[in-house]
Amino acid sequence: MPKPVIWITRTLSDATLARARRDYEVIWDPADTPGSADDIIAMSAKVDGMIPCHSEHFSADVVAQLDRRLKIVANHSVGVDHCDLPALRAKGITVTNTPGVLSDATAELAMMLMLGAARHAVEGDRTVRSGAWDFWSPAFLVGKQVTGARLGIVGMGGVGRAFARKARGFDMEIHYHNRSRLSPKDEADAIYHDNLDDLLEVSDFLSLHCPATPDTTGLLNAKRLAQMPKGCVVVNTARGALVDEDALLAAIKSGHVGAAGLDCFVTEPGGNPAFAQHENIMMMPHAGSGTVTTRNAMGFKALDNLDAFFRGDQPPDQL
Ligand code: DGY
Repeated sequence: MPKPVIWITRTLSDATLARARRDYEVIWDPADTPGSADDIIAMSAKVDGMIPCHSEHFSADVVAQLDRRLKIVANHSVGVDHCDLPALRAKGITVTNTPGVLSDATAELAMMLMLGAARHAVEGDRTVRSGAWDFWSPAFLVGKQVTGARLGIVGMGGVGRAFARKARGFDMEIHYHNRSRLSPKDEADAIYHDNLDDLLEVSDFLSLHCPATPDTTGLLNAKRLAQMPKGCVVVNTARGALVDEDALLAAIKSGHVGAAGLDCFVTEPGGNPAFAQHENIMMMPHAGSGTVTTRNAMGFKALDNLDAFFRGDQPPDQL
């Protein structure tokens, strides 16, 4: 039996590439540039499956032009807002993602951004690095204490729950909003708000962990930011589309939002240049899942899904 042919669009971990090459005929370009619409369409005639990342966009237009040879899109991501799922399904293409395995790594990064934003890490780093640290002052770099503060979490899926577990280590009072209330075991000591607006009113710190969908686009807008306590800290490691960036910028400028930690932006790559003017905004270039352990696990999960599909079984993470 010839091996199925797959396209791995980006440079995945060494372990993932080695396993993929063992079991598949792999097309992979070490140049590691995102696949364009034309690349995706052209490649669909040459491969049976693909492992794309969120950098490859399967819009309805692209999907309409895909060759019938392509049978499965095994995403190397948990978020699938880069895929038009109804269009892919209508074309008979199986789609999978990588849930669960990146929750802790992303929650770690959210914790770093929350702490870094609250404690002026960007300004502090710049002060030491530039040689501008001339004397110690009790009034310099005075931040907002995380320990014991009220934390609002929007979206209590895998990442939200992992973030809550870590925040408990800081004795935070955890509040959350989710489409549905968690089981008592998963909820632990967290306080459920069935209304997002109620959650915002108590959130001295707010961390976003919900998917980007038409319903959540622009969820954190000017009206909602105004509902939050003055001096609050906003963290986003989910998707840029959740935040109205102009509204966040205005709230940072007015001081209503004290600081922000952002790993996701409306425009990626690139981010929002206006944010760079504000050292109380700590930023990362969409690196939430970026640990060796997690990137290996994501690659292996994508391959597990392909393996199941080509064996004739239902992939474990089929959407
Ligand atoms: C995900 O898996 O959705 C992360 O954002 C990386 O793509």
